[in-house]
Amino acid sequence: MNWDPKQYLQFSQPRLRPAIDLLARVDCEQPQVVYDLGCGAGNVTRLLVERWPRAQIIGVDASSAMLAQAALALPEVRWVHHGLADWQPDALADVVYSNAALHWLPDHQRLFPALLQHLAPGGVLAVQMPRNFAAPSHTLIDATARTGPWRSRLEPLLDAAPVAAPQFYYSLLAPLTQQLDIWESEYLQLLSGKDPVKEWTKGTWLMPFLDRLEPAERAAFEAEYAQRLRVAYPPLADGGTLFPFRRLFLVARKR
Ligand SMILES: C[S@@+](CC[C@H](N)C(=O)[O-])C[C@H]1O[C@@H](n2cnc3c(N)ncnc32)[C@H](O)[C@@H]1O
Repeated sequence: MNWDPKQYLQFSQPRLRPAIDLLARVDCEQPQVVYDLGCGAGNVTRLLVERWPRAQIIGVDASSAMLAQAALALPEVRWVHHGLADWQPDALADVVYSNAALHWLPDHQRLFPALLQHLAPGGVLAVQMPRNFAAPSHTLIDATARTGPWRSRLEPLLDAAPVAAPQFYYSLLAPLTQQLDIWESEYLQLLSGKDPVKEWTKGTWLMPFLDRLEPAERAAFEAEYAQRLRVAYPPLADGGTLFPFRRLFLVARKR
């Protein structure tokens, strides 16, 4: 996928808020080794460096564009270019933190217990993932994909929602953990600018769809999707747009 740090960081403030909320729930005073999985452009990794200045912080991501931006922002951090599906740490970690990344990986039934194995006993796995896949921001991508001339090319991308219900993660992780805290928050985000919900998903979930289209078709897809979004998220009188966004949080302490 062609991640574009500029597009993604257009909404850096509302995207940062859940990362801060997740970090606030991690009870670990002096970790030595901290991984940020799917660290992206490093703006969230910066929070980890500020919280644990004496720890070795390592950011892992599969996008060289995102990592290049991260390395510019925080040259002192070690950045590892690697996919997360088969990632192995050099040493057992005290904290494995991941904000808004693991929903890109399939098979959470296998992935989450595997991540716990990379922690030292008592170590903490802290994860935030969007769970907005039943909201118009996401269902209208599917609806637009199904109704245009691009249907046959885009339909293979229409998988089931990648993040399961909170109870799934509880059943999976409770037997492997000594503490497990799982919750959801829905942020009522106020966005500004033209077609801001389209611009938001264009930095993330919409990307693989647009990547499969030629430039002219891409513009047509965006226009049709934007029109549907304006009905679902009508602009307010002052020009702002309310965009509710649900997220799942999980903080697990390994046995
Ligand atoms: C939405 S960004 C989040 C970045 C950062 N954690 C933040 O909160 O700002 C998702 C990141 O996950 C990375 N990513 C997605 N799938 C991945 C995979 N299978 N392996 C490694 N990185 C992946 C992407 O390259 C991207 O940088």
